[in-house]
Amino acid sequence: MPALVLLGAQWGDEGKGKATDLLGGSVDYVVRYQGGNNAGHTVVVGDQKYALHLLPSGILSPGCTPVIGNGVVVDPSVLLSELSGLNERGVDTSKLLISGNAHIITPYNVTVDKVTERFLGKRKIGTTGRGIGPTYADKINRVGIRVQDLYDESILTQKVEAALDVKNQMLTKLYNRRAIAVDQVVEELLGYADKLAPYVADTVLVLNEALEQDKVVLFEGGQGTLLDIDHGTYPFVTSSNPTAGGACTGAGVGPTKISRVIGILKAYTTRVGAGPFPTELFDEDGEALRRIGGERGVTTGRDRRCGWFDAVIARYATRVNGLTDFFLTKLDVLTGWEQIPVCVAYEIDGKRVEELPYSQTDFHHAKPVYEMLPGWSEDISKAKTFSDLPKNAQAYVKALEEMSGAPISAIGVGPGRTETIEINSFL
Ligand code: GDP
Ligand code: IMO
Ligand code: MG
Repeated sequence: MPALVLLGAQWGDEGKGKATDLLGGSVDYVVRYQGGNNAGHTVVVGDQKYALHLLPSGILSPGCTPVIGNGVVVDPSVLLSELSGLNERGVDTSKLLISGNAHIITPYNVTVDKVTERFLGKRKIGTTGRGIGPTYADKINRVGIRVQDLYDESILTQKVEAALDVKNQMLTKLYNRRAIAVDQVVEELLGYADKLAPYVADTVLVLNEALEQDKVVLFEGGQGTLLDIDHGTYPFVTSSNPTAGGACTGAGVGPTKISRVIGILKAYTTRVGAGPFPTELFDEDGEALRRIGGERGVTTGRDRRCGWFDAVIARYATRVNGLTDFFLTKLDVLTGWEQIPVCVAYEIDGKRVEELPYSQTDFHHAKPVYEMLPGWSEDISKAKTFSDLPKNAQAYVKALEEMSGAPISAIGVGPGRTETIEINSFL
């Protein structure tokens, strides 16, 4: 019953799409368990580049069944256009399964996301504007719309009415916007019902039966550990649980079924949107990481904030996710630096701190304590085994492994499917 969770160990964009795709060939199901089309996962297959937002990266592996779990929030128009975009490129998407319990991102959730961000002004979170937070808020407030509601017009109408009741007051009286008509929303949502129907399934049953039959199931996280609503840098987080526990609630499998938890870890650090980031660079090194690493958002096109590797965060990710392995990505991007600083601890109000402080105030004041590691200049993109790497690159990986608290079982040396060094097999 091999069930693997693959998730981001930092602030997202660690290379989860590539890592999932790499394993996709050997797994039976790839499951998204949280988030929505705020994610942007890039997969490079040969000379083809795919940008996936809502669909699990396993959609590109022919033998694999992609699943959108109950914990995901689904924007039906985005989903349908992503599917047709892939179909036009010859990708078969017919195996996709969508949980009837997944919540729907309605047009008013997108509106609310945008107006609340505007209203927050300089205190804004820097969301992707895709309606993620407001949709999860409706879910928790018990006024959400689920995929299954598309198949009962009367229930759908009642639920949209309930959801818009307060929102229309807020939109008109507080934000000075026009009220949203219930009929229009219902009509738009009903328009998606037939198109989505072939995919809608009891995914909890399907996945648990698959695990009983010893099928291999891979749970693909969106975002990353530090963007987790409970364990991230709140309030500068997303509104779901990308951490390992989220896979259980977001897909309906028990924790006893999970056999391995793989943290995807970039060899340096990036972040999109607002919030604290101790190793952030505002100098030429930051620019160079952004340029060489191609650090521009897949979803919003925003430049990513860049900084050196932060071992305090990696250790934290190991702890809150119970990581069994790391997949270290983008090591190739660091080629060419004579010395590479790595943050090994923080200094907070004059004191050295080894672990991530739980207090937001302390984290905002954290200054990185750096250790300098020797760099390398050789091209490593063709390396196939660990020993193909220059000695200093090997030492960099080993140092990160030691500081981070879990074995590094694979190393990315380029964006392509084959540009990976496998150290320990994941299956
Ligand atoms: P995700 O959101 O975690 O799936 O990551 P993104 O796709 O948003 O960003 C990761 C970027 O790094 C993508 O452009 C990938 O193609 C690229 N990438 C992934 N692994 C590697 C690697 O090992 N080396 C290099 N140079 N690029 C990589
Ligand atoms: P992947 O899966 C990086 C960030 C946004 C913002 C915060 C809240 O590609 O790693 P939201 O729209 O979710 O309410 O925005 O979370 N964010 C991401 N940053 N990668 C992502 O996904 C992200 N998804 C959301 O920039 O700071
Ligand atoms: Mg991304």
